[in-house]
Amino acid sequence: MTVPRPLTAHRAAPLSGTIAVPGDKSISHRALMLAALAIGRTRIAGLLEGEDVLRTAAAMRALGAQVTRLEPGFWEVWGMGIGGLAEPEDVLDMGNSGTAARLLTGILASHPIFSVLTGDASLRRRPMGRVIDPLGACGAMFSAREGNKLPMAIRGALHAMPLEYRLTVASAQVKSAILLAGLNARGLTRVEEPVATRDHTENMLRHFGAEVLVEPHGTGRMITLTGQPELIAADIAVPGDPSSAAFPLVAALLVEGSEITVRGVGLNPLRTGLFTALRAMGAKLAIGNERIEGGEPVGDITATAGPLTAAGTEAALAPSMIDEFPILAVACAFAAGTSRLCGLGELRVKESDRLAATAALLESNGVRVKIEGDDLLVTGTGGPPPGGGLATTHMDHRLAMSALVFGSAAAHPVRVDDTAFIDTSFPGFTELMTSIGCQFDA
Ligand code: S3P
Repeated sequence: MTVPRPLTAHRAAPLSGTIAVPGDKSISHRALMLAALAIGRTRIAGLLEGEDVLRTAAAMRALGAQVTRLEPGFWEVWGMGIGGLAEPEDVLDMGNSGTAARLLTGILASHPIFSVLTGDASLRRRPMGRVIDPLGACGAMFSAREGNKLPMAIRGALHAMPLEYRLTVASAQVKSAILLAGLNARGLTRVEEPVATRDHTENMLRHFGAEVLVEPHGTGRMITLTGQPELIAADIAVPGDPSSAAFPLVAALLVEGSEITVRGVGLNPLRTGLFTALRAMGAKLAIGNERIEGGEPVGDITATAGPLTAAGTEAALAPSMIDEFPILAVACAFAAGTSRLCGLGELRVKESDRLAATAALLESNGVRVKIEGDDLLVTGTGGPPPGGGLATTHMDHRLAMSALVFGSAAAHPVRVDDTAFIDTSFPGFTELMTSIGCQFDA
């Protein structure tokens, strides 16, 4: 149990400055996992040192890889090779991280070892059936709590069969779990995704020397991995996390007179839906210094405050901004008119029920919202909404950060019940936001 850390955000004077945000969470998890499955030494620069990723580091260590922090953000991993993982002596505790739990389940499914996964109260409520169901076909055996919840025991397959699977939910975590299981299966593993989701696993597998074919397929993609490749250690530079950059950038859009730049932000097109949506609302977001770093597009983003108008987002684009809906909804609360954000069903199974919790955050701060099926409707005030309410974050880092941004630009202060979980993805958040002009107090 962490000790709750309540915080109140007050309306800020204009924000300014040039900052960098911590490394990308999705890429950091994958870097540690694939480095542990590669042969030789991988050096990782810019690794996110949030609690979620530290759980992955500890798990890969427990499975036999040598994982060392050389300096802040700079890590070294000596991998064991595919099939070389050792049976962990103890339960693997993945903390708050669904990505760590689900991706690791894929790896463990095709290694002939016994393991038990658990997590914190939030993760223990989240569905694991979405990975258990497809992975069972490779020969692994799972025994989980009622409703396929953690804790869960896994007996990995001795000779894993390659999987062919069509995703039933648009989830990069499920896709990645299947591909990672396929690494230790002889033959071709194929995943069909009806809607494209973040492709960091595919990119990084290639970076380590695996054969991965990605083809357009209907409305989405077909991904084919050739099993049992020899992954060769390869250094990785982790870009800044666009999902983290979203918070200071939206804060700058909303606090009158602000302008800030976030340097070195990952711009993978399957992650930048928020920026597209904000631009459609009239947001001034300029991207400069675009470059490729470590196989991923990266750039510097400057946000300048200005009026926003309501917009809508289509369900097909939801995966490209799946973690950004709470902060997008906050932006919509300041825009003129009613925005409709479509296809948010998956938000119900994130670190919290983010659909309900985002609606509650806005409603308790004087904003009109409505949930219609899987859509969220936000009626903005065309300027600072009242605020003055309490935000309940339900062990969810992104709700806490969204609420603090809301409070930084609303008419009255917003009290956030617990900001401790921000450390799972964005260590140093409050200090960084304070450095650009935000005003928080306990
Ligand atoms: C992630 C995928 C997304 C996202 C999560 C990170 C990943 O989950 O919400 O924060 O790294 O693959 P789903 O794939 O389940 O939507």
